[in-house]
Amino acid sequence: MRTTRNPSRESVQRVHSGLSVHRQRRWGLGIRRARAAVAAAVLVAMTLLGTALAPAGASTGSAGGGGGGFRPGAPGVGDAYFPNYGNGGYDVRHYLLKVAYDPPTDRLTGVATISATATQNLSRFNLDFVGLTVRSIKVNGRAASWSRTAHELMVTPRHGLPKGHRFTTVVRYDGVPITQQLVLGPGFTIEAGFIHPDDGAIVAGQPEVAASWFPVNDHPIDKASYTFVVTAPAGLQVVANGRLLGRTRHGAKRTWVWNAPEPMASYLATVNIGQFDTHRYRTHDGLWMYDALDPDLFDEAVGPVDPASPTFGGIARDSFARQGEILDFLEQRFSRYPFSTGGGIVDDYDNLQFALETQTRPIYSKYFFTTPANGDSVVVHELAHQWFGDSVALAEWKHIWLNEGFAQYAEWLWSEEEGLGTAQEQFDALYNGIPADDPFWQVVIGDPGPELLFDNAVYFRGAMAVHALRLEVGGRDFFRILHAWTTRRASGNGTIPQFIRLAERVSGEQLDDLFQAWLFTGSKPALETAAAARVSASPPAPSMELMRR
Ligand code: TRP
Ligand code: ZN
Repeated sequence: MRTTRNPSRESVQRVHSGLSVHRQRRWGLGIRRARAAVAAAVLVAMTLLGTALAPAGASTGSAGGGGGGFRPGAPGVGDAYFPNYGNGGYDVRHYLLKVAYDPPTDRLTGVATISATATQNLSRFNLDFVGLTVRSIKVNGRAASWSRTAHELMVTPRHGLPKGHRFTTVVRYDGVPITQQLVLGPGFTIEAGFIHPDDGAIVAGQPEVAASWFPVNDHPIDKASYTFVVTAPAGLQVVANGRLLGRTRHGAKRTWVWNAPEPMASYLATVNIGQFDTHRYRTHDGLWMYDALDPDLFDEAVGPVDPASPTFGGIARDSFARQGEILDFLEQRFSRYPFSTGGGIVDDYDNLQFALETQTRPIYSKYFFTTPANGDSVVVHELAHQWFGDSVALAEWKHIWLNEGFAQYAEWLWSEEEGLGTAQEQFDALYNGIPADDPFWQVVIGDPGPELLFDNAVYFRGAMAVHALRLEVGGRDFFRILHAWTTRRASGNGTIPQFIRLAERVSGEQLDDLFQAWLFTGSKPALETAAAARVSASPPAPSMELMRR
């Protein structure tokens, strides 16, 4: 599948055949990210509006526990692109999600226990929750009332929740989780969100997926730890984030307990149910890995009918076998791997056509695993996100460059390491190959707008911006900046202005003009003579940096 409507993409293909492969890979089949993002935004809204709301429970506006200064929490965290994502007035510490899923009916039955701290005196508060039916809500053990709109679940506890106090909310719910349909062209739609393959489930999407399967403060600014207690038919495997604590069989069903102890943005939470060959092992560094590959992938040839053709499964297995090596590579350039477990998931589902950096355990479309180089490269991309996007999450979606620019740049670094083209060559191919009047240069990478959140340019011009920084400050300071960013903000959130300030502090250089040109201008940046000089291909010296801290 090829899209032809994106001129910049055509240019990319013309200038560097290797890049076009990269370009296509992210969505598996040459799907336009821009279109996907627009469609995602529109469709999420549509789906919500289309969801008939059964306003369950008594809706009351009265402030339980009332009294001075007890006010409702805000219905959003104030994200400029997605004003109703997340909620104000509290901070979640932990989600305990007990869910049972029945593949034949697609039904999910859940009990979400949400442990949070009030950050203001709360008369009521919101959760984000889309579709599904709420059966009951308790706050601190007492029945609470609630009302709903398409996206917001407003909970009014019996008593007001004082600022600084912890409270526990238990929501019982059930129903068939909606799947987001991303329209990528006429008659061409792919799925994201809570996906229902015949034999199980896949949960993957961004910027919003969590609200379609559990009540949540659905914005990366409110990270929490997670425990997943998942019941599924005994013949299936369940794979989530973090560590498998145990599983028990009871009759025809089995319950799995997964724990993700490190703070995690809600869109990175995943549960996958299906037929998987699972592989638990330690990297040579001692990191616990858990990989899950659908066995059917080993029967499916990548190429046309040819008994000698490799299979998606074979290529994925080989790329997964390099994860330890790839993590070493990234650790040397960024900092210590930020989590206590790792791994990856590949399901055999034709309409899963993207990869996502689900924390500790990315999900990959099988279509990435068509050649060893493509497979390795997407693994590098998703593992790079574990630092850029997961450990250091976005404070607001407009800072998306901090995720995709760096994950893409990691692919360039890897390509250089593998002898498949230097970062400079990737940069040059794009710079020389894409004319100044191409829409590629019009995208303002530092604030692309919700519709272009995952545009082509965010990735490629994003990586070019990273490379421009490296040219400007030199390799040594460049890797110092990456190290400082990923350690100082580990487990937290970041913004582009914070990154710029850090880069200036570490390098001692004034970088306003550079970032203005590369991130905040909708036109092709001029190359300065100094910056145009080739970076040396010499490897960074991160060990000194590691020792200093
Ligand atoms: N962030 C993903 C990656 O680059 C790709 C992606 C963009 C995506 N938008 C998405 C995945 C929407 C799922 C849904 O690895
Ligand atoms: Zn990415």
